[in-house]
Amino acid sequence: MKVTEVKKKVTIREVAERAGISVTTASLILNGKGDRFSEKTRQKVKLAQQDLGYHPDYFAQGLVGQRRNSIGIVIPDILNQFFANFVQSIEQEAIPQGYFPQVFSVNGFHENIDYFIEQFSGGTQKGLILAAPGASQEIVDKVQTSTNVPMVFTDQAEVTKNGDVVLINEAEAGEIIASHLLALGHRRIAIVLPNDMAVNLFKRFSGYQAAFAKYNIPLPEELIFRTSFDPEGGRDVIQKIVQTDATAIIAINDDMAVGVYRGLQAQGKKIPDDYSVVGFDDIPLADFLTPPLTTMAQPINELGKMTVDMVLQRINEPKKAYKTVRLKAKLTVRESTRELKEEKRE
Ligand code: RIB
Repeated sequence: MKVTEVKKKVTIREVAERAGISVTTASLILNGKGDRFSEKTRQKVKLAQQDLGYHPDYFAQGLVGQRRNSIGIVIPDILNQFFANFVQSIEQEAIPQGYFPQVFSVNGFHENIDYFIEQFSGGTQKGLILAAPGASQEIVDKVQTSTNVPMVFTDQAEVTKNGDVVLINEAEAGEIIASHLLALGHRRIAIVLPNDMAVNLFKRFSGYQAAFAKYNIPLPEELIFRTSFDPEGGRDVIQKIVQTDATAIIAINDDMAVGVYRGLQAQGKKIPDDYSVVGFDDIPLADFLTPPLTTMAQPINELGKMTVDMVLQRINEPKKAYKTVRLKAKLTVRESTRELKEEKRE
């Protein structure tokens, strides 16, 4: 092709013709709304799309620049891979349906979260996914009623009566984590928590406590460590943990577990020989650590998909009854945990 030649853009009509179906059907399928059509029809569209090299033109569809179709996402910390992964899965679900996500990461703005939520939701959003803690009930009600922006609550957001909610069973997941270490023979287990605990993290912690109670093992205050909610916090707290007789460490999430790894390495300690370590989330990095991290796998992609679906359903049907969906988390055992040899038990 000469530099001056402009390659003609493939249109949706051409895809439809190639697939032998109507433009409307092709458009619905290509925009992720093709559930009602048979697998065979969807497959025909996919093949035609691939053969012709068709890509949806979001600009032509008015989805860029025109600020009506966006979904706001409020997360606590964009540097945490859990939330990066969450936002990515939201994008994958929302964009084909014509909604562009806009992210507000609360880091540094905790003091005025109500103000920022109000500003954020005031302009362009059709719906809001709230995954950060600290918003007041007043602002939640205001955004939903006066601003008319439906909200879906998940993860660290406080659960409200007036909204759709997507959750995992935090207490159950916490109990599974602690039981894993107790079943391996660990009795002195250090727990690394953030200074500020969101509601879901309290529930997770209550699950740890429940496991200790079931095993009839005390969980003493001196083995509970509070620090900043980031890898630095996990790293720094190790100086104190190595002065105890702990043989295992539960980090409330993988982000902090990454810091725990670094702290132990700096102290010349080996995982899992000297300390078994468990995280929570199963961020993409967890499997790349040395050794790969045992962790509670959150269904992050499903969480993203489900929150988008719920917010879009609410936009379309503002009056229907609110619902709460619970997704399943699953323990992923890797090489950072091991059975404690008899002689190291009490
Ligand atoms: O890593 C982020 C953590 O905070 C996750 O465990 C998630 O559930 C959130 O609460």
